[in-house]
Amino acid sequence: MRAFGIVIVGLLVAVMVSHAGAQHWPREVPLGLPPVPQLPDNPLTPEKVALGKQLYFDPRLSRDNTVSCASCHDPKKGWSNGEAVATGIRGQKGGRSAPPVVNAGYLRFQFWDGRAQFVEGQALGPIQNPIEMDMTLEELVERLKSIEGYRKQFQQVFGRDVQAEDVARAIGAFERTLLAGNAPYDRFKAGDTSALSEAAQRGMKLFFGKAHCSACHSGPLFTDGAFHNIGVGILKENPDLGRYEVSKLLGDRGAFRTPSLRDVARTAPYMHDGSEPTLEAVVEYYNKGGTPNPQLDEEIFPLNLTEQEKADLVTFLREGLTSEDYPVVDPPELPK
Ligand code: HEC
Ligand code: HEC
Repeated sequence: MRAFGIVIVGLLVAVMVSHAGAQHWPREVPLGLPPVPQLPDNPLTPEKVALGKQLYFDPRLSRDNTVSCASCHDPKKGWSNGEAVATGIRGQKGGRSAPPVVNAGYLRFQFWDGRAQFVEGQALGPIQNPIEMDMTLEELVERLKSIEGYRKQFQQVFGRDVQAEDVARAIGAFERTLLAGNAPYDRFKAGDTSALSEAAQRGMKLFFGKAHCSACHSGPLFTDGAFHNIGVGILKENPDLGRYEVSKLLGDRGAFRTPSLRDVARTAPYMHDGSEPTLEAVVEYYNKGGTPNPQLDEEIFPLNLTEQEKADLVTFLREGLTSEDYPVVDPPELPK
């Protein structure tokens, strides 16, 4: 991580902030999660996080004032939208499903194809996307400048007039506070042998063993952060080529970033195109060996799981990885 230029200062700042008597932010990270990474040019402060939260929930960031980040990444729907694909401004639908923004602050490569880096590098994408929020950055800045409350807060937080990159910094700071850990799996790992049911424990063994899931869903976030072709949607007439569109490398054809599996039970349907309705269907997909195609990852092959094993694997995903203190955030009052 350090090699990527991220400074891991979460715990240090937590200590400093609490000593300063300010709000407890960044709070202690939930069990099982690493310290919150922060970019050197975007340290978290309570004021910046509060501004980012307002921007996140504010539909005035879209051309016709109807769509906010929360429209597609809704705290009540696992910070996603419960649909196969997202619906943006004027009811337009895109081709990809909305990933949750919880724990997204840990990921370097953002989007299914990794075309943006870090949450700060991601945030201005949807604002400018014509089928999502459809603004230009000039319009965005003008609009925020016309709202007195924002004008003041941007001055307080960044010491200057509203700038597009500061919008991204504030939203990124808010997203970095959305953490979900402390799942039964984490408590089991920490020594509480009663945290996982027998079935979930059997599923866990399969996940890390025979079913091979941890070849890609590895580490504390259950993702290697890398791109793999597991064949989803590849046989469609005009398939989404995923990472290939960014890298133009043949080996990346049909490859997508491995998603985190924390709290995956909250965000059906699954895969970049929302094509798998349930976790049972996902496991069935892997069990048959994905969809054969020239770029299929070598770690994807028929698993020959029994019915019992498939059920246990789902139990591990559903019970074992679901956080008990999942972030619930109510929309804030918006500045006038
Ligand atoms: C119209 C629906 C829509 C809106 C509005 C929207 N998003 Fe998204 N978001 C998506 C979709 C769909 C993707 C995946 C797109 C892709 O991979 O190409 C995505 C991806 C992301 C990701 C990447 C997560 C990951 O795991 O890679 C983050 C972070 C994110 N959005 C944050 C935001 C923020 C912040 C806003 C507001 C400024 C926002 N989104 C507005 C639909 C939306
Ligand atoms: C070769 C790497 C690899 C292996 C092995 C792997 N996965 Fe995945 N997984 C991915 C990628 C990449 C995606 C996204 C694919 C897409 O959308 O096109 C994904 C998607 C998923 C999703 C959907 C998550 C979401 O938010 O939509 C689930 C659930 C999942 N995998 C579970 C598993 C399980 C269970 C196993 C073991 C049986 C497993 N994976 C094995 C790479 C892998």
